[in-house]
Amino acid sequence: MNPSFANDSVNLEVLRRRAYNYRWAIHPPGVIPLTAADPDFPACPEVAEAIRKHLLEGYFPYGRPEGDNQFKQAVASWYTRRKNSPVAENLVLPVNSAAYGLFVCARMICTNPGDEVLIPDPVDFLFRKSVENAGGVAIPCKVNPDTAEFDFDSLSQKINARTKAIFICNPNNPLGRALSKEELNRIILFAQKHDLWVVSDEIWADIDFDKKCLSVFDSKLESYAKKLVVSGLSKNFALAGLRIGYIIASDEQTWQSLLTFSLHQTTAFGIPLISQIAGTAALNEGEYWLEAFLQHLNKMRDKTSAFIDSCEFLETRITECTYLAFPKLKLHEANSTKMVEKILELSNVALVPGGKEWFESQSEGHIRICFSTSEEILEEAFSRIKAVEHLLT
Ligand SMILES: Cc1ncc(COP(=O)(O)O)c(C=O)c1O
Repeated sequence: MNPSFANDSVNLEVLRRRAYNYRWAIHPPGVIPLTAADPDFPACPEVAEAIRKHLLEGYFPYGRPEGDNQFKQAVASWYTRRKNSPVAENLVLPVNSAAYGLFVCARMICTNPGDEVLIPDPVDFLFRKSVENAGGVAIPCKVNPDTAEFDFDSLSQKINARTKAIFICNPNNPLGRALSKEELNRIILFAQKHDLWVVSDEIWADIDFDKKCLSVFDSKLESYAKKLVVSGLSKNFALAGLRIGYIIASDEQTWQSLLTFSLHQTTAFGIPLISQIAGTAALNEGEYWLEAFLQHLNKMRDKTSAFIDSCEFLETRITECTYLAFPKLKLHEANSTKMVEKILELSNVALVPGGKEWFESQSEGHIRICFSTSEEILEEAFSRIKAVEHLLT
């Protein structure tokens, strides 16, 4: 067992003070939150060390609106060396989270009210929110829950003169599936045919147990000028609170346009230098930590699958990527929200319900379990649910 991911590394006293977004800090002490996808472990020590050095210099001036060069370089190198995606550092735009990255892309793309963006269903609620915030309309398109693939016949029927983009989530949150090379090429060619932007949210791409997930910029894939990547360091490096994200453009003109729409030059928006310094340390020095984290997660994934298999009320489901399981409820007229409320009330374990508000309509009838915690905490949560299983059906 790697000590970084042992139970003693989970400092509940700190998490109960700091971990918001449906996690430890918003629940009474007895509750175990397997909710928002945020690890219970401290980040790699290189991150704290880089921040400490920066703090000791004592200067906190305005940063570059275009982003810190070292961080841009670190992102470009991460894509080039780990993802077969030769990314130029000048085409990376650091932003204060992947969430904001999606908002910036949507703003750049939806320039006329009512512009439409195709989004997968199910997918994280940020897809719809980013499009609607930009004055656009999100058009959910069902994907196969086993493969996260679109049905291209029904996708074609959704195209009209207002359609501007297709957003993809690779790997998909909540499905835990990465898209195949063939599917990515189909999406790129479809976008080319209809002159659409392809926005690929790759924030989960490093949590890939079989190392199968491809970036939309992988050089094996069809090339196309209107590709954009949105990603960040919340999931792979446990840095959600530092709000570190980035967008990668295909060319200089698009990058300039993203910078304009980011509003960084107004100083009202932007990513703090301290976050970029932390991100640089994680990407340049934390790869060993990420590999150890993946090994731990792999074990937690097996535990979670075994738990799901053992539950009468859940359909079997194996996670291929992400640290999320998304089983379907086997019950008649299953309502995700009611089930999650019941589980919380009876067992003091908090989960995330499926349903339109969180993951679009097709996700209704599912529950989401985040397993990026210690073995002991996960076992305790699962045994609590097992103890009340007979009351849940
Ligand atoms: C698919 C997806 N995109 C974006 C985000 C947001 O990431 P960030 O913390 O960088 O805003 C999440 C967080 O859960 C996510 O699942």
